[in-house]
Amino acid sequence: MEQHSKNIKNLDTETQDVQKLINSKTYKTPCYLFKKNVLINTLNDIEHTIKTKYNNIRLSYSYKTNSDKEVLKTLRKQKICIEVVSKKEYTVSKKMGFKDIIYNGPAKSKKTFIDALENNYIVNIENKRELSWLKSIKSKKHIKIGIRVNFPLSCFIANAKSINSRFGFNLYEDLKKVLKDLKKYKNIKVVGLHYHSTYIDRTPEKFKIVTQELLKFSKKNNLDLDYIDIGGGFDCLNHSKFSFNDYMDAIYSCKEFDKKLNIIIEPGYGLINSCYDYLTKIVDIKKTQKANFFLCDGSKLHLNIKSKVNSFNVDFLKEVNSKKIIDNYIVGMSCMESDRLHLTNKKLALKINDKVLFKNCGAYTSSWNSGFILEKPRFYTLK
Ligand SMILES: Cc1ncc(COP(=O)(O)O)c(C=O)c1O
Repeated sequence: MEQHSKNIKNLDTETQDVQKLINSKTYKTPCYLFKKNVLINTLNDIEHTIKTKYNNIRLSYSYKTNSDKEVLKTLRKQKICIEVVSKKEYTVSKKMGFKDIIYNGPAKSKKTFIDALENNYIVNIENKRELSWLKSIKSKKHIKIGIRVNFPLSCFIANAKSINSRFGFNLYEDLKKVLKDLKKYKNIKVVGLHYHSTYIDRTPEKFKIVTQELLKFSKKNNLDLDYIDIGGGFDCLNHSKFSFNDYMDAIYSCKEFDKKLNIIIEPGYGLINSCYDYLTKIVDIKKTQKANFFLCDGSKLHLNIKSKVNSFNVDFLKEVNSKKIIDNYIVGMSCMESDRLHLTNKKLALKINDKVLFKNCGAYTSSWNSGFILEKPRFYTLK
């Protein structure tokens, strides 16, 4: 918890620094502001905590969450392992010089699948198609492989969504068959089990359950594993109600815990969400009988098209208490009625050209920009 409160303090200072920078510089809007030092500090803190306390944890970053060039360059400089889920992500990561790669997901190509195995990267098999690629390899060289598995979290966590996952092989029903089949290939060794699922509450409990179930299976079936890869789904690792230590303690508290086994984590959101802000400016104000609309030069399309109003914290709002209660919306540039970013009953004393900053929006925002209606926002790295 100590580490965690230190980070919260840093984050307050960081917010003030960002505000100062915005007031002193002329950033062209709309733009993403990449708080590079937040990412570097978070990574350094995590690396330090792993080294001193949780030394069988292996950190990797989930590429898809945000693959802006500056983000990837920063991660590569910090020598972080990258988790990729497609031929495109694999090829870019290799070209950029990432030394450690984890190759997941159904969008591999046969060529990059084989290339990854030849380079001794971690490859987690997703389906029968990839099993057939594996079996078609003629070389008798030893091949190490991981297998993605699934099981419903809802069996263990009451409010987790009940879903029959389409990813990997069911841990309780299908995996044994796959392992039996692969036993016929003397040069192939299953050295890892991989699991990832989305759980909206992002609790440490989820990671304890996943670790426990994978380790139980491994023990029961006498697997000789090098790693279990328990995926992503962490809350912000520098300023949420759960600290990095909370997650690690949960994982380490498993009954079956094996100190010799590597445990891979693949945070995306947990690492990058708090490293971005999104700056816009007000370009029109429309006052009507029932609501006021403050049009900014940004849009939900630059954040998350599916997000609801008030999904993001906002700075520079200039809210004032007022007797007249009326809905005040900050709305976006697209022609979708739902392009409403912020709603308040308080009076907004915003004027044309005033800036509005949407905070902590690095995950699944920039990487989802589709080009629909609007151009991609500008990008600045804050030093
Ligand atoms: C296999 C895998 N690993 C890691 C992640 C990252 O998840 P998050 O951004 O929730 O940490 C995802 C996201 O979908 C994923 O599919």
